[in-house]
Amino acid sequence: MKTKSLFITVLLFTGSLVLILMSMAVPNQEKPWVVPKKYQNMENPYLNVNDDENIGRILYTKHCKSCHGKKGRGDGTKASSVDTPVPDFAEDSFKKETDGSLYYKSVLGRDDMPSFEKKITEEEDRWLLINYMKTLVK
Ligand code: HEC
Repeated sequence: MKTKSLFITVLLFTGSLVLILMSMAVPNQEKPWVVPKKYQNMENPYLNVNDDENIGRILYTKHCKSCHGKKGRGDGTKASSVDTPVPDFAEDSFKKETDGSLYYKSVLGRDDMPSFEKKITEEEDRWLLINYMKTLVK
């Protein structure tokens, strides 16, 4: 009886270890971040709006800079404390994103990328922030 429960314990332990190792082997950035069609094709209603009050910059500095860095290069002071690598906005993959897709990722987030649905609630603020993000790596 004793050896049997020992056997089961060892089996459970090894099993969980394998599962943990497997989940570590797939870093988040390699999991495609699928943006629903509805968002991908969403139009930016504030595309050509002049942000005289620098709302985009103020929001970015307050909420995003700590991870994404001053210039969006993914080198903010908090970047190294999250498990998922913080993307570099200078990469082609970022430049190819539609505004709607940036909206989806910025507002809803996933895992280490926080959701800002409750912190940035105004539509105008969200879009001005996206407009600003795109100017960082021009
Ligand atoms: C705690 C750190 C952290 C903060 C704060 C943060 N982000 Fe992120 N962000 C990340 C990480 C990590 C990823 C990569 C997530 C992934 O791939 O799963 C990411 C990804 C993104 C992406 C996708 C980029 C791409 O190339 O696909 C956008 C857009 C983005 N963040 C916008 C923002 C905005 C806007 C803010 C502020 C309102 C913000 N982030 C605040 C960590 C952060």
